[in-house]
Amino acid sequence: MAKVLIATEKPFSGVAVKGIKEVFDAAGYEVVMLEKYTEKSQLLNAVKDVDAMIIRSDKVDAEVLDAAKQLKIVVRAGAGYDNIDLAAATAHNIVAMNTPGQNANSVAELVFGLLVFGVRNFFNGTSGTELKGKKLGILAFGNVGRNVARIAKGFGMEIAAYDAYCPADAIEAAGVTAAKSQEELFETCDIVSLHIPATPETKQSINYVLVGKLKKGGILVNTARKEVIDEAGLIKLMEERKDLKYLTDIKPDADAEFAEKFPGRYFATPKKMGAQTAEANVNAGIAAANQIVGFLRDGITKFKVN
Ligand code: 3PG
Repeated sequence: MAKVLIATEKPFSGVAVKGIKEVFDAAGYEVVMLEKYTEKSQLLNAVKDVDAMIIRSDKVDAEVLDAAKQLKIVVRAGAGYDNIDLAAATAHNIVAMNTPGQNANSVAELVFGLLVFGVRNFFNGTSGTELKGKKLGILAFGNVGRNVARIAKGFGMEIAAYDAYCPADAIEAAGVTAAKSQEELFETCDIVSLHIPATPETKQSINYVLVGKLKKGGILVNTARKEVIDEAGLIKLMEERKDLKYLTDIKPDADAEFAEKFPGRYFATPKKMGAQTAEANVNAGIAAANQIVGFLRDGITKFKVN
């Protein structure tokens, strides 16, 4: 009987766990849970004898993969898989997958939660602005970016997007203006929302010069990854440009400095909330469970990322 570990430092909703267990029950697999763990040693211990594993932003590095002697597949229930050491997984002959799109609407809705909070001056009672008529720049037009565009239309925003890997005509086909570069996107928009993955190419790419191109009163919103931000550059810029706001769902390393220096212009959620909805947990968790059964039973490798 296959044994599956659900290792989630930030647990799924109860309804999602129930749905995941139903998938594995039907397949005749055993499920073990490791939720809200605080020490890596707990994960190292839990992976020892499992055949498969579902994770979220949980870090699966070479040490974890070394300890997982029986592991055949790890599925990141979500989009970004920068938390998995893919080279180590491949070296161990372990398949890594993600569940693209499954939590995209949840993340996209949070963008607008952050934006309304931001343009209404963090609900401090003073007069703010509206989103209608403002120009929103979407950096990377993947599943989340597309959902952001869909919702932005409802707010009556002008929308532009740039994606190094998505052709301009595919962006235009979604009713969104295609910017020629990320520089142009920042230059021409009031708000830029980040939806790029954390890769060697994107790390610290959102820097002093780029964000400095934003129009007066500009807002940068980040529901992607903290690693894409050049934190020192952004701090320097926000010191010089008192008109800029930074709203993020991923606490920067320099959270305390941002909070102290930029009250009313900086907000970070206490814990990453983008995919924290029952719907996103159900969608991503059950997709992950089905992908594990599909792989172990039928050898299906759709959504393999290594
Ligand atoms: C993702 O990459 O899918 C999101 O960042 C969600 O991450 P989470 O599962 O840790 O909430």
